[in-house]
Amino acid sequence: MPVRTRPDLYGLAGFKTVPIPAGTTELASNELPFGPLGSVRAAVARAAGGVHRYPDNSGRLLRECLADRFGAPVTQVSLGAGSIALCLQLAQLTSAPGDEILFPRPSFEAYSLIARTVGATARPVPLRPDGRVDLVALAAAVNDRTRLVFVCTPNNPTGGVLGRAELEKFFDAVPEDVLIVLDEAYWEFVRYPDALDGMAYVRDQAAAGRDNLVALRTFSKAFGLAGMRIGYSLSSEDIAERLRRLALPYSVGTVAQAAAVASLEADQELRQRCDEVVEQRELLRGELVGLGYRVPESGANFLWLGLGRHADLFRQHCLERRVLVKSFPGEGVRVTVGNATENDRFLSAVREFELPGMAS
Ligand SMILES: Cc1ncc(COP(=O)(O)O)c(C=O)c1O
Repeated sequence: MPVRTRPDLYGLAGFKTVPIPAGTTELASNELPFGPLGSVRAAVARAAGGVHRYPDNSGRLLRECLADRFGAPVTQVSLGAGSIALCLQLAQLTSAPGDEILFPRPSFEAYSLIARTVGATARPVPLRPDGRVDLVALAAAVNDRTRLVFVCTPNNPTGGVLGRAELEKFFDAVPEDVLIVLDEAYWEFVRYPDALDGMAYVRDQAAAGRDNLVALRTFSKAFGLAGMRIGYSLSSEDIAERLRRLALPYSVGTVAQAAAVASLEADQELRQRCDEVVEQRELLRGELVGLGYRVPESGANFLWLGLGRHADLFRQHCLERRVLVKSFPGEGVRVTVGNATENDRFLSAVREFELPGMAS
């Protein structure tokens, strides 16, 4: 007899990852091209000596470090096994079957998956033509069933960064009983002076009594800890408390917590690394634009090539030259900014790609 499982999950596609053939330049997952810093490796080795014990379930030390960094009360900081875990908890906290979760499209693929996992209706809202989240359309899509809105800035995969004024307008347009999550996974690569710093904004708004904003960041990208699985959020104290109650016990491991604390201490070195990535991003974008590609400005560690229906062909072409990029079929290709050598390998592949009218 078939096991009774939720029929609404039958068609769930799951989060797609692809095997990486040996010797391939991996530019598909927005990781840093650098390995862990010496100080972080040392902290990892030290923490490994204590893994016969459960981790600190409250993540107190790391939460205190983050609270210090953002000038916010520690009670407003939450941790997750990657910021994706916090995305799921936020969905679980707000949404059930019959409710709607809004998010931009294309954007981080997990939003849709997470909405469906909790039984809510996933409602994607197309981006603006410039690759930024369409805040006007997103606000207009909010209705009585909306419980949660994900706003991704810089947007994955297009890189578009939202400005302070437009975000403030959006926050005012959304009812205060709808939770808005500002996903800033790539914040450290933003160099746009008008960008809104979600952490500072949520801190100030929560202090003024506003409960419906959450800022989300991760150690996976700029901090180079993707394999550690650790992310964090800042919210009102009430939301943070309820997130903690929902969290899987001990899901943020001892080694991950130690690596994150050590990374925060290595701030200067990490900033320098981000500056290098940003420099490479601008060089790579310049080359691609020079080759005739349409590449919007990006505030993240990746670039978007608006290749439309040629996206898969382009990905396959690069893969045959041992460079892995991410295709969004029918829409475009996202390429992670690597180091100079990796970017050169990618550019060599691009130079061999011929498609009449591809940039139009
Ligand atoms: C926009 C965005 N948010 C969240 C995440 C999740 O990151 P992690 O779970 O590794 O913290 C990613 C990862 O690619 C992302 O692109």
